[in-house]
Amino acid sequence: MSFLSATLRRVKPSPTIAVTTRAAELKAEGRDIISLGAGEPDFDTPAHIREAGIAAIETGRTRYTPPDGIPELKDAIAAKFKRDNGLDYDRSQISVGSGGKQILFNALKATLNAGDEVVIPAPFWTSYPDMVLLAGGEPVIAETSVQTAYKLTADQLEAAITPRTNWFIFNSPSNPTGAGYSRAELKELTDVLMRHPQVWILSDDMYEHLAFGDFKFCTPAEVEPGLYDRTLTTNGVSKAYAMTGWRIGYAGGPAELIKAMRAVQSQTTSNPCSISQWAAVEALTGPQDFLAPNARMFEARRDMVVEALNACPGIACPVPEGAFYVYPSIADCIGKTSAGGTRIDTDEDFATALLNETGVAVVHGAAFGTSPAFRVSYAASEADLREACTRIHTFCDGLG
Ligand SMILES: Cc1ncc(COP(=O)(O)O)c(C=O)c1O
Repeated sequence: MSFLSATLRRVKPSPTIAVTTRAAELKAEGRDIISLGAGEPDFDTPAHIREAGIAAIETGRTRYTPPDGIPELKDAIAAKFKRDNGLDYDRSQISVGSGGKQILFNALKATLNAGDEVVIPAPFWTSYPDMVLLAGGEPVIAETSVQTAYKLTADQLEAAITPRTNWFIFNSPSNPTGAGYSRAELKELTDVLMRHPQVWILSDDMYEHLAFGDFKFCTPAEVEPGLYDRTLTTNGVSKAYAMTGWRIGYAGGPAELIKAMRAVQSQTTSNPCSISQWAAVEALTGPQDFLAPNARMFEARRDMVVEALNACPGIACPVPEGAFYVYPSIADCIGKTSAGGTRIDTDEDFATALLNETGVAVVHGAAFGTSPAFRVSYAASEADLREACTRIHTFCDGLG
């Protein structure tokens, strides 16, 4: 359509939201659907946080706030960065936005000029390349492979960087693979980044608290203090505190960048929701004791799903370190035909046939830049996960 801007013509809507919407439509039509498409916890926001939101309404904390957050929330975020990551940020170095998504977008919008490159490892969270395009930059995709459990190597990072590279986006544990970088693995990447002073680091730590087994979460500015002055450390309350609908994300970074992000935000949404900000203060300063048991619950689901998927013919599923996703490869299913008569030439064919024939909704790997694979979000009940894995198994048995 000609009235769309040239920028928007390069951008596509989120495929994960499309899958979730399609699954909900089929459910509304009466189909028996299990949706493993959405990336959100399957439980409610904890009661003490909900109560803080209600109290904010009742006490009239319902007006405009400073564009990038109330001082109380900035202080709570500064204390969180110190407590969990050993990072020092003062109020001028902290920005709060309407979800992690807005924070990332503000940072890109505030810094990118036409032709500027942003290195994004694949598989990637589906929004990164489109946000870069919306902000006027050029995504440069750095491929990883299932052989390195979808983690970028130092050589792959080095090869992707050019004199035009502005940002490197780092996400661990990752959406969509769940891959988490150990301190040693991350240090190999930060050593590369130390040699390229034009490159800034956008670390998306959204799944920090979903770290399993021996894996210890770490973030670039902590692993390499030499990068502190050109790193934006982003995070949010959406996943760890089951607050996806409240829309609060935040970042710590250089004051000049934070100021520029504030300008973007003040001309778009003015400020994140006042009520949600007060709820987020409670999330970050209140009891944290439910985080570890939640992570253990997700870990048990991961173990169950990985085992069940690896038992399916044609599927190979690495064991991820965190988040609530697995990303099985379906290379051995390509070229086959499903029991319902669909030829599987791509992972989109696989996901579509799986939904139509079994009612299980997953997101095809092409949406995340690495095929043939699919993403399962195991933020679903154990009963649903077991049933979904049984249906996937039957579907794979039927491929011939
Ligand atoms: C890696 C990653 N970063 C950021 C976000 C955005 O989170 P929010 O809901 O706070 O905008 C998501 C949400 O799916 C995500 O998976």
